Amino acid sequence: MAADRHVPLAVTSDLWWKNAIVYCLDVETFQDSDGDGVGDFRGLTERIDHLAGLGVSCLWLMPFFPTPDLDDGYDVTDYYGVDPRLGTLGDFVEFVRTARDRGLRVIADFIVNHTSDRHPWFQAARADRDSPYRDYYVWVDEPPEDGPTDLVFPGPETSMWRYDEEAGQHYLHRFYRHQPDLNAANPRVRQEIARAMGFWLELGLSGFRIDAVPYFVEELGASGETTDQDSHAYLRDMHAFVTRRRGDAVLVGEVNLPPDELRTYFGDDEGEKLDMLFDFVGNQALYLALVREDAGPLARALSTLPRIPDRNQWARFVRNHDELTLDKLSDEERQEVFVAFAPDEEMRIFGRGIRRRLPSMLGGDRERLELAYSLLFSLPGTPVLLYGEEIGMGDNLAARGRMSVRTPMQWTDERSGGFSTADPADLCVPTADGERGPEHVNVAAQEHDAESLLNWTTRIVRLRRETPEIGWGDPALVSVDDDAVLALRYEWRGRTVVCVHNFAGREARISLPDVGELVDVLAGRRTSPDLELEPYGYRWLREAG
Ligand code: NOJ
Repeated sequence: MAADRHVPLAVTSDLWWKNAIVYCLDVETFQDSDGDGVGDFRGLTERIDHLAGLGVSCLWLMPFFPTPDLDDGYDVTDYYGVDPRLGTLGDFVEFVRTARDRGLRVIADFIVNHTSDRHPWFQAARADRDSPYRDYYVWVDEPPEDGPTDLVFPGPETSMWRYDEEAGQHYLHRFYRHQPDLNAANPRVRQEIARAMGFWLELGLSGFRIDAVPYFVEELGASGETTDQDSHAYLRDMHAFVTRRRGDAVLVGEVNLPPDELRTYFGDDEGEKLDMLFDFVGNQALYLALVREDAGPLARALSTLPRIPDRNQWARFVRNHDELTLDKLSDEERQEVFVAFAPDEEMRIFGRGIRRRLPSMLGGDRERLELAYSLLFSLPGTPVLLYGEEIGMGDNLAARGRMSVRTPMQWTDERSGGFSTADPADLCVPTADGERGPEHVNVAAQEHDAESLLNWTTRIVRLRRETPEIGWGDPALVSVDDDAVLALRYEWRGRTVVCVHNFAGREARISLPDVGELVDVLAGRRTSPDLELEPYGYRWLREAG
């Protein structure tokens, strides 16, 4: 029926994150405009047309605030500024305005859980017990014996409490020792955070990716000042605040918890806390499924995800800027993935993760890369790309820790991949090396190659934007006769889309039950429900109307 094809405005734009394509980048490593070896807002602004051409609709900026840069900017000294290495507030505003001109929204990382120990609040707090800033952080005379024990960075850190000589007490740091945890139970801290968020909304941001959410929420619960349930009131207040300031603002949460603990982070009824959560559970299962050439692990993971309110969405990703954490897999499963994708010790980190990008893990295998990225764009949720994924960029294990996957964007085959004219020794992060470094993998070459991954990605982004059933529809697993095949069906406003992926390096034959005549969305032709899938083959199918 023609009426069913009509998409109401509220559906397409008010809840824009339901069907966005997000692209995560770090200003520091995207484009250097002044030859100092560090990317900057002017450089990023010059590259916006690459992003517009790719078809993404929202940019997520990793932290760009003033920082001593001991955790790649996740250690903030001023919530109201731009790190001088990256430019000025003026450059930031020009960038946001140019992005808006190209139809791109911008969101940014916001770090609520902790500051840098060089933040003036912490300096004042440690210097004087009577300072109003003392209670901005969490202090104890003796580390409690019954507190949490799970270290986020085992190896670099051995405790989450650190004795501060000047303060004469221990402070809490869930992450590195130079990142003291803010005391989220203190209403003044909440006001400070809200004011800073309001500032960036005023300058044009469309929302935030909230770092490390469970840590500050958990602390609230443990502080004794709130009950477990009240600790979520902070998220509710934060959401109310940002949407009051800007109706379409989105909050995307980093919440890596088991499936049964996720639902409450969206909200209790209407999804009035975080609008989106990254699906870490599905992400880890995807890798196990790739290794086993069996769709089972992913199908099981998807079926454990809670149903979420209409306004909420999953943020779907293949890789992010951190290690590929495998903490939700069993020890045996993690070992399987390690053996296949990180055989050398130097490829692993924190005992739980892999510090490589996917193309390196797959040895550049184009068929399996397409399989993984077709899944990124067709599993339930909004796809979040990590910069460089559109070209199959590599990594550099010689870079320290997680910086291995944060190497500069590869624009050309020139020195430093066209990222910077600085001496390569002066780059903020070395470029990727080997087979997937800039000489072999870069935007310029791929733009002129019709078969390139860049052109494939651009096409699938466009098709994803034209397939709102995936973002809006109710997903259901379809049972098929081959364990290697994942079939997902979306129903929305009288339309049906079925996405089918073969995880095996052999052909698969399946018959889709209960569907009418189908159109292959990617190939643009009619097809029957009896499918012959190539090794690692995939199809997006829409029921012909
Ligand atoms: C999560 C971020 O993704 C990670 O890069 C950072 O180190 C920690 N939070 C601490 O902010």
